Amino acid sequence: MIIAIDGTTASGKGTIAKRLSAHYGLPHMDTGRLYRATGVAALRAGADLSDATAVAAIARQLDLAEFDEADLRTAEAGKAASVVAAIPEVRQALFELQRAFATQPIGALLDGRDIGTVIAPEADAKLWVDARVEVRGERRWKELQGQGSDLSLDEVIEQLRVRDQRDQSRKDAPAEMAADAVLIDTSDLTIEAAVEKAIAAVEAAIARGNRT
Ligand code: C5P
Repeated sequence: MIIAIDGTTASGKGTIAKRLSAHYGLPHMDTGRLYRATGVAALRAGADLSDATAVAAIARQLDLAEFDEADLRTAEAGKAASVVAAIPEVRQALFELQRAFATQPIGALLDGRDIGTVIAPEADAKLWVDARVEVRGERRWKELQGQGSDLSLDEVIEQLRVRDQRDQSRKDAPAEMAADAVLIDTSDLTIEAAVEKAIAAVEAAIARGNRT
């Protein structure tokens, strides 16, 4: 079984992905980490983030073991990720890795932006997780404050709007809800309620699949 969980930044998709991967016993790949690591590696190498050839070469040689989780979760890493993610050669460089993970015989759960549309369009269940930008901004702002960031809430919300816009308007694999995905809006839900809703949506998708 393949479960595809896509959605916006700070929507709760990562938490839902972790909980569903444990619930269904499926290996989990957080594909945002690949783009974050590519962005951070490019910054470390002093590469121009718009240099498609240089950044794609970095993506092809990516070794995730070289990155601390904390280095990948900063606002700077998120921004760099979304810039390099708009480069088709970078997406191409990271495709096989994700595709191989998705198609492993024991099944898989992947979360990202284009899992249900590009990486695993054949997924058995597809979710699109979203929340109002103000709610996502507040979540992300609290997380960043814990890291000692002095960005204001308004600045964080503005950064999310810019990121959403860049992710949704890029030509290659824009972040968008697959036609057969189920929307989970977490704006007014607790984590528990969101996870419950997500499991119910997956169960319904599996039941639909078994009938056809
Ligand atoms: O999900 P996360 O915030 O870690 O993703 C960081 C950035 O990586 C996103 O803003 C998006 O630009 C990019 N991304 C992507 N495709 C994916 C996962 C992430 O383009 N499958």
